[in-house]
Order: sequence, then C-alpha cells, then structure tokens
Amino acid sequence: MNKLVISGGNPLYGKVKISGAKNAALAILAASLLTDETCIIENVPYIGDVITLCDILRGLGADVRVEKDGKIYVLADRVRDWRASYDMVQKMRASYYLLGVLLSRFGKAEVGMPGGCDIGPRPIDQHVKAFEALGAEVDIEHGTVFAHTGGLKGNEVYFDKYSVGATINAMLCAVKAEGQTLIVNAAKEPHVVDLASYLNSMGADIRGAGTDEIKVRGVEYLHGSEYTIIPDQIEAGTYMIAAAATGGDVTIADVIPKHLEAITAKLMEAGVMVEEGTDWVRVYREQRPQRINIQTQPYPGFPTDMQQPMGVLLSVAEGTSVITENIFDSRFKYLEELRKMGAKVQVDGRVAIVEGVENLTGAPVEANDLRAGAAMVIAGLIARGVTEISSAHFIDRGYEDIEAKLSDLGADIQRLDRKGRTRKIKAV
Ligand code: UD1
Repeated sequence: MNKLVISGGNPLYGKVKISGAKNAALAILAASLLTDETCIIENVPYIGDVITLCDILRGLGADVRVEKDGKIYVLADRVRDWRASYDMVQKMRASYYLLGVLLSRFGKAEVGMPGGCDIGPRPIDQHVKAFEALGAEVDIEHGTVFAHTGGLKGNEVYFDKYSVGATINAMLCAVKAEGQTLIVNAAKEPHVVDLASYLNSMGADIRGAGTDEIKVRGVEYLHGSEYTIIPDQIEAGTYMIAAAATGGDVTIADVIPKHLEAITAKLMEAGVMVEEGTDWVRVYREQRPQRINIQTQPYPGFPTDMQQPMGVLLSVAEGTSVITENIFDSRFKYLEELRKMGAKVQVDGRVAIVEGVENLTGAPVEANDLRAGAAMVIAGLIARGVTEISSAHFIDRGYEDIEAKLSDLGADIQRLDRKGRTRKIKAV
C-alpha cells in the first residue's frame, strides 16, 4: 500500500486537463461485450477501476488492448463465459453492470455481489427488479448473483428508488430484448446519457436518457463503434474545490461546464469566483470562503461524490455549515480523519455540522475510500505542515495521475511506496 505525502500551504496555479469520466467508462467498457465487433473507446481514464474492469473482461475471454492517450480496443467475439471471477468483481461497484450485459448476451449471468467503497449498505434490489421485469429469474446465494432467462422481453421497469446503477443495468439488459422497455423514475446523471449515446452509436434505439423516462426499443444486433467518453465531472469538481480551498487560481480544462453547475453554484454561494467558457472553468477567490449548507441529491443536484471534498473546504470557511448526506448512509468517515487535522465537526446520522477553523494542520490520515481520499488530498494541500495519506490506492481507483496533475499546479506532493521510497511521478 503506498502513501501520498503532501507539504501543505501552496496555492494551486495554472491549468489542469480533466480525464474521461470514470463512471461512464466503466458502463461503456462493460457494454462493449454486447457486440462481436471491435469497439474503440477514447478518452478512457487510466485509473484503478478501469484496469480492474479490463482484467475482468479479459477473464471472460475478451481481447482488450489499452493504448496510450486513453484509447481502449475491445473485441468480445470470443467471449464464452457468463461467470465473472468473484475476487475481481469484489474490487469495484461497477462490476454489477456485467449482470445486465451477460444476461443480455448469454441469457445467463453469474457475478459476485459487487464491492466498491464502504459508504454504507449498497443493496441491488432495484437492479434485480429490472432484470425480473424483463423476464429473468434472479437468485442470490453464497455472495453470488445468479440470473437466467429463456428470453428477455421489453416491459415497464418502474424504479421505487432513484438509482444510477440500476438505470444503467436496465438499459444494458433491455437494449437487445424483444420489444419496448419503458424505464420510469430513471436516473439522469451525465454518464447515463453517455452510455445511451454509446449504445445508440452501436445501433441501439434508446430515447429519453437524461430525463426520468427512458424508452428502449430492443434491436437484434449491435455493431462495433468508435466513441469518445465525456469528461469526469467529479474529477473536475475535485480540482475546482482544491483551487478554491488553497486560494489559488486554476483553469480546469476539457470539461462540460453544464455538468458542473451544482458545484459551481455552491462554490459561488461560498464567495468563490467561478468563470466559465465553452469547455473550461476558472476558479479563484478574493476572500475567505463563507459558510454554506449542502444537501446531496441526484443529478442535477449536488453530487454525493463531491460531498467529501466540499466538506474540507467548509472546514476552513468562515462560519458554521450544515452538510446533509441524502444518498448514502455512511459517507462521513472522512470527518474523523479531518478532526486529526484540527477540523471542528460533529456528525449526527446523515447530518454533519462543520464549524470553520482558520487553518488545518498536517497529520497522518487515511483515505477511507475513493472520494474520502480526494478529500484528504485537498486537506493536505491547505494544511500547515506535512500530511501523510495512507491507503492511497483508493484514490488511484478514480483519479488519473493525481500527483502529477497537482505537482504541475504547484503542489508539493510525493508518493511513497510500501518501503518508504519516493516513486517517480508520471508525466501528464
Ligand atoms: C453510482 C456511482 C457512484 C455515485 C452514486 C450516486 C458508479 C459506478 N457509481 O453508484 O460513484 O456515488 O452513483 O451518484 O456509477 N440503492 C438501493 N437499491 C438498489 C440500488 C441502489 O437501495 O438496487 C440505493 C443505494 O444504497 C443508495 C442510492 O440507492 O443509497 C443510490 O445508489 P445508486 O444511484 O445505485 O449508486 P451506485 O450506482 O451504487
């Protein structure tokens, strides 16, 4: 397990390019198993979860070639296995997409219960509901999900709960089912739309993605495609908050500003300056950030994945902020770590009260999960002294070249391997 070591206090200045969206890439890579033809996917971030998923796809028999500059070729014509290795799928949440994809391709799927960040219970009842509505039988035994069908048939899938993953799985399962599927109370996240665009580029007939009703008219055949993934709005938001927290001036490039609206709105409410161009945002500030309240919501509301980085900014804001986490049960563990750095926080269930302090101080802290890790990095950047973040592999699951990108912006950040040696920073 390696560590990130940050000497805090340097404001970030300059320009950072944002990588392709992790959550879109994972759904799109999995969807590439739905055709026998070659798929070329561009702007794929080189991050831990993508590497893991590529290994899982290879384990199923796909030919997966990762090129430089974020291009991945997938040829799945020789895939014959509908069982995904338990050990691999345990490493990441998005392995649940294999259920929809393998069910669609083989009429059966055996996939271990998905792993991923420990942020509270993460049931898959809505995914199962979608598969059953489309004509599959699903059993969960010994930690594995078994699904099979004599033929998928379009139907209405009504979600009782808003779920990004279940919406994506319903689309993956319905895309080649016989007849029409109507997904009601669907998630509207940008990566739901990106997956629909990708599937349509393969010959699918999906309309309404980005609204709460998605219509999927099943097609018999999907062909290969060449497709470029959208920028990662969570990575972009992380750099926006890092710029604001350190009091620097950063242009975040290669983004879709519309996807960042909730983050932009909240930063501006806190007194941070945000300027927007067609594919960039610039973040800087002229005063100490002010207290604000945050409520996490499904898109286009404030994203739960930004709650932790924003919590760090608010820990040094003027006044007391209230953060309400509405999506996941247990997403405040990072505040325990932040306390070690001098933050004044109280947590009561899904509500955190954050009383802004003048400064954080460096300390040994842990990245409890992916976004908690990003939060610790921002905390380290603003703290006086040295912050050592252990379990940095969590951060690598979702952030491409984080220390190289931050170094380019003027941060003093290094990676230490298990033996305490400095690891070379990759060029961006
Ligand atoms: C996805 C994202 C994750 C993000 C989250 C919310 C991926 C790979 N992960 O996770 O980064 O934090 O959306 O934007 O895209 N739920 C149920 N039953 C289900 C499914 C979900 O009760 O069958 C609950 C969950 O426990 C959670 C809420 O619904 O409380 C939202 O979960 P969901 O939108 O499904 O998140 P994920 O797809 O796991």
